[in-house]
Amino acid sequence: MPLPFKHLTSTKQLTRVDTEEILRVAAEMQTVRTKGKSDLLKGKVLASLFYEPSTRTRLSFETAMLRLGGDVLTAEGIQFSSLYKGETIEDTMEMVGQYADIIAMRHPDQGSAEKAASASKVPFINAGDGPGQHPTQALLDLYTINDEMGKVDSLKIAMVGDLRYGRTVHSLSYLLGLYNNISFTLISPQELTMPEKVTSFFKEKNISYEEHDDIAAGLDADILYMTRVQQERFADKSEYERLKLKYILSAKHLKDKKVTVMHPLPRVGEISTDVDALPNAAYFRQAGNGVPVRMALLAMLLGKA
Ligand code: CP
Repeated sequence: MPLPFKHLTSTKQLTRVDTEEILRVAAEMQTVRTKGKSDLLKGKVLASLFYEPSTRTRLSFETAMLRLGGDVLTAEGIQFSSLYKGETIEDTMEMVGQYADIIAMRHPDQGSAEKAASASKVPFINAGDGPGQHPTQALLDLYTINDEMGKVDSLKIAMVGDLRYGRTVHSLSYLLGLYNNISFTLISPQELTMPEKVTSFFKEKNISYEEHDDIAAGLDADILYMTRVQQERFADKSEYERLKLKYILSAKHLKDKKVTVMHPLPRVGEISTDVDALPNAAYFRQAGNGVPVRMALLAMLLGKA
């Protein structure tokens, strides 16, 4: 079934039917990936534009395209592109669309993805726009939740850390809102609580949520979704230093606990390495799931799945 949109900028544009179709195609892509390479996207070119740092999103988009037989053009860092000379995002999209068949872009400004999509003549995917959205991360998070738990409905989800600027938790909250009987425990310092745009969505959809500042409130959930306090979102570095390691999850917190631990990564100390060997630790498997999910999105948006 083709997706009913050309560009993916936000999880708010997805229905449950779209989401489940993406997860279904991603599961097929996992098989393609384990078998080796396919030529489904042979002759197609992905422009991978990363104007903000990335390891997982960029490399998983690029390997996804290569594993489907396509090619990749890449640009990184605003200072090495003509955006630095003052070219607009709209003109950049006009140009890149003449060189590539599909575009994935990460940019530090919230709203840049909408601007780019409105100007792009080829399919455009938001790979993270500042503190805005990160829809492909949310889809791989959902794929991971389904894979680890065998279902998504009726789960208790605890989110911990920087809920204010964390685009992954914003995108995932909207996506989980499509499922039944989900409840959220939101754990953050007062300065980094979930923004009103997300809590008003919970209220509007009658989704149960509680706010806490102690990580203990999340240890009996089904999923404990840890996040990093993001240095790059703070104008005042002393504020960042004060808040950065308020929550440090270690193996001792997880003794006799069944909770599955996720994190979009990178981590910068908020999960101790002694958690890595526990069966609860799903975060590296989660990062690996970015490949089949992005393979599915590239193929679907190019009308080839
Ligand atoms: N999760 C995520 O977006 O990681 P990168 O910043 O490394 O892409």
